[in-house]
Amino acid sequence: MTSQHLLPVTLRDLPNAGNPEKHSIGYKTTRVLAEALNATQMGLAEAYIRGLEIPDSVFRSMMHASMPILLKHAPGLLAPYEWVLDESDRLAESARELMQVQYDLPQAMLNQMLGDWPTIYPKYSMGLWENGATDLQSAQIQMLDRVIEQLEIVDGDRILDFGCGWGCVPNYIMSKFPHVRFTGVNLSHQQCEYMRHKMQDPQSHLSGGRFTLIEGDLNEVQFTEKFDKILSIGVFCHIGNLTNALQKLASLLESNGKVFIHLITARIPNHMSSGFTHKYIFPHGRYWNYDAIPTHNRDLQTIDRWYVNGMNYHQTFTAWLQRFDDAQASVKLLDYGMDYAKFRRIWRFYLLLMGTAFATCDGEYNGNGQYLLTHSS
Ligand SMILES: C[S@@+](CC[C@H](N)C(=O)[O-])C[C@H]1O[C@@H](n2cnc3c(N)ncnc32)[C@H](O)[C@@H]1O
Repeated sequence: MTSQHLLPVTLRDLPNAGNPEKHSIGYKTTRVLAEALNATQMGLAEAYIRGLEIPDSVFRSMMHASMPILLKHAPGLLAPYEWVLDESDRLAESARELMQVQYDLPQAMLNQMLGDWPTIYPKYSMGLWENGATDLQSAQIQMLDRVIEQLEIVDGDRILDFGCGWGCVPNYIMSKFPHVRFTGVNLSHQQCEYMRHKMQDPQSHLSGGRFTLIEGDLNEVQFTEKFDKILSIGVFCHIGNLTNALQKLASLLESNGKVFIHLITARIPNHMSSGFTHKYIFPHGRYWNYDAIPTHNRDLQTIDRWYVNGMNYHQTFTAWLQRFDDAQASVKLLDYGMDYAKFRRIWRFYLLLMGTAFATCDGEYNGNGQYLLTHSS
């Protein structure tokens, strides 16, 4: 018998709302233990933010020692709050707070960390390294070339980018297809300013009338047209209600259209989150388990899916951390609404935490999920 069988089942699989097991002693015990683990992690994070010196190598070793135990034997403890287990009322939660805490931070910092090249604008999602990419820019290109194949994009498609960041994905895809048209939605005013600037730049594929930008909230945005293809990359960690989100995408899709969703995922029974990222980085951010999209099929059906090994995201975060560290001389002069030393330590903790989490268990548990969907038949 493995140690896994010795543990109470609730440490592995937490029931959802409305499930009678939610009142069981096992469930309540798991919640107490999850809260205790979260309090310990938050204590460590806040000590680091206050100046506790932990060498990166020690931080990484601690993660490599603890995460496999949690992922393999007690994944129930990786849901620090009850809301992680259930769908929220709103499609996307805490949207305005998220912009303030994360996406509308000084763009010069984000752009230097993420990279900003003539074709690859800042892209805040996984690059694909497993096929031999040796730098961040080529890893992002290889990731996007694969999306073009997976979503079977053809010239002339009308495509919606649901959470379009800085317009990297539309710009790259339009550079390959002269008759593709894109609509991008994003609530971040600062990122929209970046795209509006590019829309005036003749060198950019966002100029020339093929790109429509909607600065707005995914919760509220309305469209008059339908799309041949819809893609959403790195956005579903901000989606709290999958059922409503898939229903919304279905309502925007042509009858023979296709949807491609790329998200952070975990191959564990329940969804997961982190108290630290919820408080300091992504308010109400959550990581859906790998089966969440197929099991929320109603208006859309999953016709294909891929688990992308976490080492790809580990290498992406490692490159972002390196670029963040390298940019200190200039980014420390920007206004973060707090003392820069504190900001820097919050962000180093975030980049180390996420970067290492995806490398644990050789990337087999914590990675990215990609899903191809069509209308339900
Ligand atoms: C992690 S970034 C990914 C951006 C882009 N897809 C990429 O791969 O670079 C998530 C994006 O979703 C946007 N976003 C998050 N919540 C949103 C909301 N409620 N409404 C509109 N945009 C939102 C953010 O502003 C950000 O641009």
